[in-house]
Amino acid sequence: MNTSVDFFDQQFSVQVREGEKQLNPFELMAQPYLFGDVLDYGCGLGNLGIVAAKGGCRVLALDAAPTAISYLQKLAAEQGLPLTAVEADLRTFRIDGTYDTVVSIGLLMFLDENTALSQLTQLMTSVRPGGVAAINVLVEGTTFLDMFDAQSYYLFKPGELRRAFTGWGILVDSVDDFDAPRSTIKRFSTVIARRAA
Ligand SMILES: C[S@@+](CC[C@H](N)C(=O)[O-])C[C@H]1O[C@@H](n2cnc3c(N)ncnc32)[C@H](O)[C@@H]1O
Repeated sequence: MNTSVDFFDQQFSVQVREGEKQLNPFELMAQPYLFGDVLDYGCGLGNLGIVAAKGGCRVLALDAAPTAISYLQKLAAEQGLPLTAVEADLRTFRIDGTYDTVVSIGLLMFLDENTALSQLTQLMTSVRPGGVAAINVLVEGTTFLDMFDAQSYYLFKPGELRRAFTGWGILVDSVDDFDAPRSTIKRFSTVIARRAA
């Protein structure tokens, strides 16, 4: 496990214990666009994947945090949901096949620049014609850095994520600031886009 995954895994243990299941603001943005075969890349506790599976989607949920993945596997089995959860290091993961909806919320900034950009390309090429990508990252201007591995993270440049989707139908293009400890901020960019059919 790297520092970032360790940071989240500890948080997930608490959230599982306390039964926190509500969608975060970016999952709420993506929820209306989910359909068909869904890939959630960096799913965390998988609340979005659970909602998608309950709504009839077939979900593959990937993350490196063992607590989150074993929680999701157990829940999917208990509730008979069409959701497969797999522990994977998404710095090097090769996606097999294509999906109607590809979601990656809050993952890519934990990878170094080259890896983040090549994984973004891989995510985009894994979307079927007419399918949707929902990508959320931290961008420059973010001053809360506690969750990063100092050797490896990437704050996207302003507008960079939107530019990557040139030629796609843009459904959502949003920049949102959230207050963080010690008067710092987290600045997120979210792009949800449809690939031409
Ligand atoms: C900010 S959380 C987002 C989780 C979820 N998408 C959500 O919106 O709640 C970041 C996630 O990225 C995962 N992560 C970070 N680096 C990773 C890596 N190299 N491989 C797989 N997952 C990683 C963490 O374990 C964590 O679940």
